[in-house]
Amino acid sequence: MADLSKNDNAGGVSEDAAVAAIETPAQRGEPILQVRNLQKHFPLTQGILFKKKVGAVKAVDGVSFDLFQGETLGIVGESGCGKSTVAKLLMNLERATAGEVFYKGQDITRLSGRALKAVRRNIQMVFQDPYTSLNPRMTVGDIIGETFDIHPEVAPKGDRRRKVQELLDVVGLNPEYINRYPHQFSGGQRQRIGIARGLALNPEIIICDEPVSALDVSVQAQVINLMEKLQDEFNLSYIFIAHDLSIVRHISDRVGVMYLGKMAEIGTDTQIYDHPTHPYTQALLSAVPVPDPDARANRERIILTGDVPSPANPPSGCRFRTRCWKAQEKCAVEMPVLAVPERFRGQDTPAAHESACHFAEEKSVLAV
Ligand SMILES: Nc1ncnc2c1ncn2[C@@H]1O[C@H](COP(=O)(O)OP(=O)(O)O)[C@@H](O)[C@H]1O
Ligand SMILES: [Mg+2]
Repeated sequence: MADLSKNDNAGGVSEDAAVAAIETPAQRGEPILQVRNLQKHFPLTQGILFKKKVGAVKAVDGVSFDLFQGETLGIVGESGCGKSTVAKLLMNLERATAGEVFYKGQDITRLSGRALKAVRRNIQMVFQDPYTSLNPRMTVGDIIGETFDIHPEVAPKGDRRRKVQELLDVVGLNPEYINRYPHQFSGGQRQRIGIARGLALNPEIIICDEPVSALDVSVQAQVINLMEKLQDEFNLSYIFIAHDLSIVRHISDRVGVMYLGKMAEIGTDTQIYDHPTHPYTQALLSAVPVPDPDARANRERIILTGDVPSPANPPSGCRFRTRCWKAQEKCAVEMPVLAVPERFRGQDTPAAHESACHFAEEKSVLAV
């Protein structure tokens, strides 16, 4: 495990050492990814010639969590709360304004060159929209095979066609479709192609940003089942971003709830769905349809008033306090959500339930 207090490794570690550290297999039970106080502020500028910075959109503003090997961490929250930005930061597609992402102990937000390429191989992404994320002018074989151009060590030239066909088979598509174009497939099949592309380099982590949100409900289940099967087969760790709370519960071991660039609450699926302690989580869950009529009758639907504040000018302290029915003076001071507390690190079951609410009744660590 890395020493987390030492967050600047840009100077000290040689590129070779960084590459070697990344390529050693992770031990089970260790967090494979540790995110600490991650921030992304997009500058707001004014003027055409002289772009003057007049503020910043605080898309992600201090997010911390751990991802354990082989688990699925769901991230939920309303549109615009910063979920996709977190995904891009984890992939290093956006440079973090501040904070760290430790992958097997290496802070990947500060890597570049060969070491970054080695990390990228192990952390892959599946995007929301299978219609726009696949190039319409390329065949499926080229779309999936393209990844091997960047990482030829995974599949030497002569071996690529066979490897692509194998991947098509793994995701439940006919290997003979290799010469077809994306428009010849249905939405669900296209997302299978997206997943095959994500798997091509044998990654350890797949970050799925709303992978089934654009699909029909009947197809969503098939794709989710496929993803669960692949997780077992290849011992993958998933970060599964979605706004559909039932899907997230189905697939996740743990769930983090985001609001306006911050993590409001994080815990196991049972902790979050059956014992939510943050008023925002409670409000979010109260909107989910319940099939059981008795449970439905006893349930209070929480209707939030007011709009989500702008991330360019968020409230101080608890981000939710402007819409919260429990809000009091002390909510103007932030209650940070920790990731997994020190005493749980290295254990197989991450049991921490953390809530950013001052009034969370069950704020302490619960037994699972
Ligand atoms: N490149 C960018 N430049 C400026 N603002 C951005 C950029 N990308 C995202 N944002 C803003 O950051 C916030 C979070 O966006 P995003 O991460 O896409 O949210 P989500 O995926 O949860 O819907 C939004 O207010 C969005 O408008
Ligand atoms: Mg998004």
